[in-house]
Amino acid sequence: MAKGAKIYEGKAKTLYEGPEPGTIIQYFKDDATAFNAEKKDVIDGKGALNNRFSEHFMQGLESIGLPTHFIKRLNMREQLVKRVDIVPLEVIVRNVAAGSMSKRLGIEEGTKLNRPLVEFSYKDDSLGDPLVAEEHILALEWATQRELDEMISMALRVNDFLSGTMHAVGIKLVDFKIEIGRLTENDYQQLVIADEISPDSCRLWDIETGQKLDKDVFRRDLGNLTDAYSEVARRLGLLPKNTTTPKLVK
Ligand SMILES: Nc1ncnc2c1ncn2[C@@H]1O[C@H](COP(=O)(O)OP(=O)(O)O)[C@@H](O)[C@H]1O
Ligand SMILES: [Mg+2]
Repeated sequence: MAKGAKIYEGKAKTLYEGPEPGTIIQYFKDDATAFNAEKKDVIDGKGALNNRFSEHFMQGLESIGLPTHFIKRLNMREQLVKRVDIVPLEVIVRNVAAGSMSKRLGIEEGTKLNRPLVEFSYKDDSLGDPLVAEEHILALEWATQRELDEMISMALRVNDFLSGTMHAVGIKLVDFKIEIGRLTENDYQQLVIADEISPDSCRLWDIETGQKLDKDVFRRDLGNLTDAYSEVARRLGLLPKNTTTPKLVK
């Protein structure tokens, strides 16, 4: 499928105009960044794996009735999606304290929360994506009250789905972040899950051993990131069981 003009080059993906109006092609890069791009590397195979993960999870969410931007995967590195107007928020759901929450509140990583916690941060790299309250979102008109309520309910449904999917393969979903967009079709606007869902945007711990199988492997120099992501992919049936390191075409 012919790619149109480049629209945006981000840290993990490049966006191109798609073949039809209202579509875009997401190209998943091998670039890994952390701490607001202070730490950077190129990790062979990461883009192809995340393309596959995102396809898998978006299709799963569609299957339980949650609308997403996903149309179809085109090849190893690219997928076709519906173009949306991204709500400028990262919607974070936490089941267990870790990362920035542990740091900010002095709570030991691994502390179980007695209910899932939904947090929002304002999507702005130059500000370091600061945590914001629902009051900020409404006062600054980043979303309406109706949208906010819907985003929380969508995020919790994603949490139920992803936690269940991961638990079934021996992995604990500690937390994740999603982006949500406004999709306008036939004069009707709805909120849909956009961007990507992959181990770049989740914390995944092996239930038995506690081993980290997500981007923290890169952030904290805990080993080979592709090996960790491949392990998750194998357990989900996205890679053959008997492969060690997958042969991925660039
Ligand atoms: N369906 C979509 N329509 C429009 N923009 C999208 C869609 N899905 C994701 N995006 C945006 O595309 C960009 C994806 O590239 P990424 O490398 O993740 O960027 P960033 O460095 O900003 O995180 C993000 O800014 C994301 O908000
Ligand atoms: Mg991103």
